[in-house]
Amino acid sequence: MPVTIAGTGSYVPEKVLTNADLEQIVDTSDEWIVSRTGIKERRIAAADEFTSHMATNAARKALEQANMAAEDIELIIVATITPDTLTPSTACYVQANLGALSAVAFDISAACSGFLYAMKLAKRLISDGAYKNALIIGAEKLSAFVNWEDRNTCVLFGDGAGAAVLRKSEEGEGRILASETGTDGRHTAILDIKGGGSACPISMSNANDKLATLSMQGREVFKLAVTAMRQASEKVIERAGLSAEDISLVVPHQANLRIIDAIAGRLDVPNEKVFVNLHKYGNTSAAAIAIALDEANREGRIKRGDNIIMVAFGAGLTWAASAIEW
Ligand code: ACO
Repeated sequence: MPVTIAGTGSYVPEKVLTNADLEQIVDTSDEWIVSRTGIKERRIAAADEFTSHMATNAARKALEQANMAAEDIELIIVATITPDTLTPSTACYVQANLGALSAVAFDISAACSGFLYAMKLAKRLISDGAYKNALIIGAEKLSAFVNWEDRNTCVLFGDGAGAAVLRKSEEGEGRILASETGTDGRHTAILDIKGGGSACPISMSNANDKLATLSMQGREVFKLAVTAMRQASEKVIERAGLSAEDISLVVPHQANLRIIDAIAGRLDVPNEKVFVNLHKYGNTSAAAIAIALDEANREGRIKRGDNIIMVAFGAGLTWAASAIEW
C-alpha cells in the first residue's frame, strides 16, 4: 500500500546563539566556524523547554497541515538522542501533550538518521496494515548534552524539532518511493555520549567530569559520512527508478556545508537543488532533516509530483536515505 506525507511541521526555540556569542565562550571565531561548517547561528532551548515540548509544537503544525485531529493518530515515533528522561520515552510525553490517546508511542535512537529510520518503520507498518497513519518526529535538545568548554563540538549543535504525518496515499497523491537504512556499530567510539547510561551512570562522584556530553572525532566522522550518504542516496535513487535529472530537491542532513557540497557533487545534483538551512540552526541531529523538509515545503520549494531525496548520517554509525514523490 503506497504511503504519503500528508503534512509537515517544525519548531525551533526563540533564543539565537550566534558565532559572535560563542567567541565569548570558547577560543573560536566566526571565520573558523563559517569556513569549516557553514553555520552562522543556532537555537538554544530555555532551561524549562524540553525535547518533548519542541516535539509537541512541531507535531501540532504537522497535524494542522495534514488536517488531522490528534485523537485520530494511531502511531507516534519520536527519534531523539536527547530524550526528556531515560524512561518513559519522549513519545509518551508528546502523546499526552497532544491528547493523542489512541496512539501507540515510542522513541527510536539512531542519532541524525533517526527521522529517516522512523519514516521507513512507519511506512512499513502502515503498508502492512498495522496502523492507518503515523506521526513521526525528530526532536533534540542537544544544548543539554554539549560540553560548552569544548570548541571542537559546542559550535556545531543546536536545538529544535520537526514532524511529519504519514498515511495511506490516495489517488493522485505522492508516495514514499524507496528507503534505505544502515548501521556500522564498529565505529561507536568516534561519536558518543559516554555517561548517563548503565555503562557509566552519572553519580555524585563523577557528575562534574563532563561524561554526559557529546564527544566526537570530527575528521573521521566527516570521511565516513560522505561515503555512507553517497551510497545510501544512490541506492534509493536506483530503487525508485530515478536519474539525477529527475531529482527536484535533495534535503540532506544539516551537519556541515562541506559534507553537503561533497554529496551534491557525487550525485551530480546542482547546488540550487539542494536545501540548506544549517546556517540558521547548526546540526540538530534527528530534527535536522525534519525541520529542513518542513521549511522546504512551506517555502514552496516542493510541489506536487516533485522527486525528493533525503539523506542522513549520524552516531552509531547510522545512515539512511529516502526517495519521495511529493
Ligand atoms: N574554533 C577554532 N578552531 C577549532 C575549533 C573551533 N570551534 N574546533 C576545532 N578547532 C581547531 C582544532 O583544534 C584543530 O587545531 P590543530 O590543528 O591545532 O589541532 C583545527 O581547528 C582543525 O581541526 P580539524 O578537526 O582538522 O577540522 P576539520 O576541518 O575536520 O573540521 C569539523 C572540523 C567541522 C568538526 C568537521 O570535521 C566535521 O564537520 N565533521 C563531521 C561532524 C559531523 O558531521 N557530525 C554529524 C553527526 S552528529 C550526530 O550524530 C549527533
